[in-house]
Amino acid sequence: MHFAGSIVVPESVEKPLDYYRNNTVASHALVSTAIDAGVRHIVFSSTAAVYGEPERVPVDESVAKIPINPYGASKLMTERMLEDSAAAYPMNYAALRYFNVSGADPEGRSGQVGKGSTHLIKVAVETAVGKRDHIDVYGTDYPTEDGSCVRDYIHVSDLVAAHLKALERLIEKPEENLVLNLGYGRGLSVIEVLDALERVTGKPIRREIKGRRAGDPPNLISSNKALLSTLDWSARYADIDTILTHALEWERKLQSRNWE
Ligand SMILES: NC(=O)c1ccc[n+]([C@@H]2O[C@H](COP(=O)([O-])OP(=O)(O)OC[C@H]3O[C@@H](n4cnc5c(N)ncnc54)[C@H](O)[C@@H]3O)[C@@H](O)[C@H]2O)c1
Repeated sequence: MHFAGSIVVPESVEKPLDYYRNNTVASHALVSTAIDAGVRHIVFSSTAAVYGEPERVPVDESVAKIPINPYGASKLMTERMLEDSAAAYPMNYAALRYFNVSGADPEGRSGQVGKGSTHLIKVAVETAVGKRDHIDVYGTDYPTEDGSCVRDYIHVSDLVAAHLKALERLIEKPEENLVLNLGYGRGLSVIEVLDALERVTGKPIRREIKGRRAGDPPNLISSNKALLSTLDWSARYADIDTILTHALEWERKLQSRNWE
């Protein structure tokens, strides 16, 4: 399973060659070494960013892939490398296109770490525990119900479960590859997420309304029909209050141990 990569979209715009080196060139080294070593199945962390600004929503896997930043392009190149390799060498692969990964392990064993995250739910829970003074809302004039951007947040444990099912399927059907969106097929706006967090914590979250960010599509929701029909997978943690509760518990744990 190949999770490693550089993942910050604006940074990829500033340092495209770093992103092609780390996401594409380094993946080439990994994939070729793995194939040489006899690895038969590769599961790859891809991303909804391969679709760019999709022509239709919910986004199914056949939507045109026109990434609008080097991050998405660097991941799409790796997908293509895997596709061509699977046609030529004795291996198969799954490219799993994650939508917005969120939450934390329900048992508190793992979660997101690191300073300067740009993920909405991470930033929101950091604000809730007092690590940040407020959260910026980038744009409230989008053509969505409340004007803020809508995304498909998937709990990390549901994402993990889909990886295990994907690997089982690759082993069972070595002649097939998998290209699947990982999302719930459900959209939540930035404001809905922040309102839910206020409900979970019982406290207001200070928000500052900012302008739109370049390259943020208004609506990014997956179609997960292929996921549901291909793998024996179902969502266990889709409820946003559950996602936020787990993310919050993890953030409190980090804080109590003085971890970042
Ligand atoms: N978090 C999301 O919402 C999301 C969405 C879509 C796709 N993804 C993909 O999921 C994967 C994991 O993302 P994450 O959110 O856990 O990010 P992350 O930054 O927490 O994890 C990426 C890890 O890869 C490591 N890494 C980077 N380059 C490496 C290299 N050359 N060799 C070895 N290790 C290296 C980093 O040190 C880091 O620990 C990434 O490939 C990312 O593109 C994440």
